[in-house]
Amino acid sequence: MIVRRETTGDRVAVRRLVGTVLSATLLDGLRASDAWLPTLSFVAHDPDGEIVGHVAAARGRGGATPTLALLPPSVDPDQRSRGVGQALMHAILDAADALDETLVGLVAYPPEYFGRFGFRPAEDFAVVAPVADWQSSFFVRPLTAYEGGVRGTFTFPEPFLRV
Ligand SMILES: CC(C)(COP(=O)(O)OP(=O)(O)OC[C@H]1O[C@@H](n2cnc3c(N)ncnc32)[C@H](O)[C@@H]1OP(=O)(O)O)[C@@H](O)C(=O)NCCC(=O)NCCS
Repeated sequence: MIVRRETTGDRVAVRRLVGTVLSATLLDGLRASDAWLPTLSFVAHDPDGEIVGHVAAARGRGGATPTLALLPPSVDPDQRSRGVGQALMHAILDAADALDETLVGLVAYPPEYFGRFGFRPAEDFAVVAPVADWQSSFFVRPLTAYEGGVRGTFTFPEPFLRV
């Protein structure tokens, strides 16, 4: 399996996969928004070049501070429990860290999968979910550049609010 940045040629397969696993509407909305960050969209493909996984992060804010909002990994149902999700998570978190991003926010249903990647309940930090009902599913992952100054309401890109 190879994990690499998404290219234009991957888009149809990525949309099909994310549409099956999460929401094509969310993906389309993010891509069309100012929040989309092409450098932080990753795919996993098998030796034949078939796309088996995707993950991305878009621009969010914690109070006034730029943060990242994670579009959670989508893994082909036939390829699960083989480490694809884990490889994608390490790729995107390492890339975000290298870009000096501070904090990654995530709303996860269910959230259990993400603790192993360093995500912690947002109430451990000074950020709150933009929608009260999200708080119990809202997790954040501090990166190396995080110095504690991110506080206030965590703003997700608008397409997340329409899901
Ligand atoms: C969650 C997901 C990304 C994991 O991808 P994956 O490639 O199968 O994951 P990995 O191979 O890296 O890890 C597998 C392990 O993760 C854990 N795991 C997988 N899905 C999980 C879930 N929904 N909740 C908790 N733990 C989970 C299991 O412990 C599994 O171990 P097992 O092989 O002993 O069963 C994938 O199942 C998926 O695309 N799910 C649909 C979307 C989803 O539920 N997203 C999560 C919340 S938004």
